[in-house]
Amino acid sequence: MFSTETYTARRAELKRALGNGLALFVGNAEVGMNYAANPYPFRQDSTFLYYFGIDKPDLVAVIDVDNDREILFGDDLTLEDIVWMGQQPRLREQADRVGVRDVLPLQRVSAFLKKARRSGQTLHFLPPYRPEHRLALKGWLNLAPEKQKAAASEAFIRAVVAQRSRKSDEEVAELERAVNTTGDMHVAAMKAARPGQLEAELAGLVEGIAVSAGGHLAYPVILTVQGQILHNHYHGNVLQPGQLVLGDFGAETALHYAGDLTRTFPVSARFTPRQHDIYQIVLDAQLHAIALLKPGVRYLDVHLAAARRIAEGLKALGLMQGDVDEAVAQGAHALFFPHGLGHMMGLDVHDMENLGENYVGYSSTVQRSTQFGTAYLRLARELEPGFVLTVEPGIYFIPQLMQQWKRKKQCAAFINYKVLDKYCTFGGIRIEDNVLITTEGYRILGKPVPKSIAEVEALRAEAY
Ligand code: GLY
Ligand code: MN
Ligand code: MN
Repeated sequence: MFSTETYTARRAELKRALGNGLALFVGNAEVGMNYAANPYPFRQDSTFLYYFGIDKPDLVAVIDVDNDREILFGDDLTLEDIVWMGQQPRLREQADRVGVRDVLPLQRVSAFLKKARRSGQTLHFLPPYRPEHRLALKGWLNLAPEKQKAAASEAFIRAVVAQRSRKSDEEVAELERAVNTTGDMHVAAMKAARPGQLEAELAGLVEGIAVSAGGHLAYPVILTVQGQILHNHYHGNVLQPGQLVLGDFGAETALHYAGDLTRTFPVSARFTPRQHDIYQIVLDAQLHAIALLKPGVRYLDVHLAAARRIAEGLKALGLMQGDVDEAVAQGAHALFFPHGLGHMMGLDVHDMENLGENYVGYSSTVQRSTQFGTAYLRLARELEPGFVLTVEPGIYFIPQLMQQWKRKKQCAAFINYKVLDKYCTFGGIRIEDNVLITTEGYRILGKPVPKSIAEVEALRAEAY
């Protein structure tokens, strides 16, 4: 946990931003995997963690801006709970630790909120993303679950997003810790991979490193020889010589800040000439994109600059053709690079995605595109110092997408469909790093993880 002052200062800033009303924070509950007493690892809600820091289930908090009052609702463990779960600090002590004066039993939330509403206070709540939150809001506010997203407070969402988007020095240090553990996971996978292994052996190895470092995974491991499936969580393939392994996985620290790196490496000691060529294009695009990062730049423009590099590289290989700028303007690159260049990262790996991607990644001057590929950007807005984001271009050969585009002759002026057929079993390559935007430009977080072809092949040589 950070210092008491960190949490009180965060809440004070939120109060200033909101100006009035009553802000409701619904902490997470345990979720049963197959029955209630066999839960998934507990994960506190990130906004609750940000303002209240307490990493325990079944808590609700309120900031009553109108009356300058903060209240933590929860219950101390019963003796029976203590028999199974051990002694825990009393709620009063936990509230003191984060500078909250008032503590009330959980069952008082409902009456408290009803009274506040009767007295005409504006109630601010965030869009719920768990069924337990939706049921709780239904009970407290008599508001049907399907109406809750629209009724969530835009002022509250905007205030939280503005605050959480700019990472403090202590948050950056925590993020860097996560990225360093994540780097260890990637180096371990690159050193350990051998033909004949199941993907699951490597997935287990890297998850163990995240847990050993005192935290957890930041998201389910992607470790696959089928890198063209963007979020592939299947780990049942056997590694074969000549294949590529795409590993996209990261640790979150004990304080729940995330790391999110991707590396792609050959199962054999060296890339094949074709893999070498595609890898170098992705790497060039990633390095080019990173070099453009600084405050004021629109991430949409960085994305498009990376897309142009990819299109140029693919044109040099004969896979694309025609005018590169026009190809990107028409979205032809999205056959190979159908996702966004990156996203914000913090307490969530896709930071604040539960609050609404448009609030986090877009602004009054940057609106979401409707074009295939460009429409999927999670981050497009102008960058500011303190933002932490990912830079993760990729090139994928997705057979179903290739067949559909070919059938429809989509962007045929820019894609050489004859050459494309030769790549239908290629798979995919992505390279991802985590970057802090500074007042002057940028800083890549964490210790370097092998990325150039020479570095990756040197590490793979250690496996043989
Ligand atoms: N780990 C998913 C992503 O890179 O966005
Ligand atoms: Mn990733
Ligand atoms: Mn990512």
